[in-house]
Amino acid sequence: MMTTNKIAVFASGSGSNFQAIHDAIRNGKLAAELVLVVTDKPDAYVLRRAAAAGVEALALRPQDFISKADYERAILIELHSQGAEWLVLAGYMRLIGPVLLEAYPNRIVNIHPSLLPEFPGKDAIGQTLAAGREEAGVTVHFVDAGMDTGPIIAQRTFRLDNRDRQTVEEAVHRIEHELYPATLQKLFSRQ
Ligand code: GAR
Repeated sequence: MMTTNKIAVFASGSGSNFQAIHDAIRNGKLAAELVLVVTDKPDAYVLRRAAAAGVEALALRPQDFISKADYERAILIELHSQGAEWLVLAGYMRLIGPVLLEAYPNRIVNIHPSLLPEFPGKDAIGQTLAAGREEAGVTVHFVDAGMDTGPIIAQRTFRLDNRDRQTVEEAVHRIEHELYPATLQKLFSRQ
């Protein structure tokens, strides 16, 4: 039987990966339903994309809660009410805590703009360039309690023929927008 694969996308910024996932669903390339966008930044551009796409959104500031656990419990209530089955992190610049990890075991995935395990954390592209690497890449992985750790699901590499930062960022995004929906589709079809 086909499952619906209800997904919640977590994002803190522009949300171009949210957009790519939304477009892949609309174009029939990804069998999933976007039930919620979660952001920790109430002014994030991803909220405009969610509104334009007609996707429910939840914007909560962690600093308005007394603890990270309370913040994540508030998110969890909404995830349950929307029936989310998978959490898809797309530029969500925060560690996932025990509340969500325990509620969604092996059901939280992340995309990161480096060839993990190298260059986790912030500004992975800058880290890659500063280290003088000849190759850069993108990783999709399951999320655990660490920063951009957890089992790797897919990786794509490209040669850094041009080291101009903007060119590299564009190349990373092009890959991400193709790799993330395709990897999610593979993941969902093996469930
Ligand atoms: C993406 O490049 C994603 O890989 C990165 O944030 C960007 C979000 O772009 N994530 C991380 O660095 C996670 N550690 P977007 O908001 O346009 O999708």
